[in-house]
Amino acid sequence: MVKVTFVAHDGRRFPVEIASGMTAREAALFNDVPGIDGDCGGQCACATCHVHVDPTWIDRVGCLSDGSMEADLLQFAEGTTEESRLACQITLDDRLDGLLLHVPEQQY
Ligand code: FES
Repeated sequence: MVKVTFVAHDGRRFPVEIASGMTAREAALFNDVPGIDGDCGGQCACATCHVHVDPTWIDRVGCLSDGSMEADLLQFAEGTTEESRLACQITLDDRLDGLLLHVPEQQY
């Protein structure tokens, strides 16, 4: 199991656990974490699973690569930063155990 803590914009923390190999989107949706919609089903087509990776974790998660489908899609998300990622594109494994993700105030 991989532990992930989602931090809402108001500071509420939602610690969850999910099997290795699942995505951060699935970790949020399967545990009713508010603020992650994931409308496209994890197909990298909606940007409603936008999260900000905590700066202490960005090296392990990895930044966006320019020109990627994920980077192109995040151009349409609200409040993106250098730590922005789509939760559906973050596959969780033991390397990311303890991951901290910040949920934006809104996805639209
Ligand atoms: S769920 Fe649609 S882009 Fe992640």
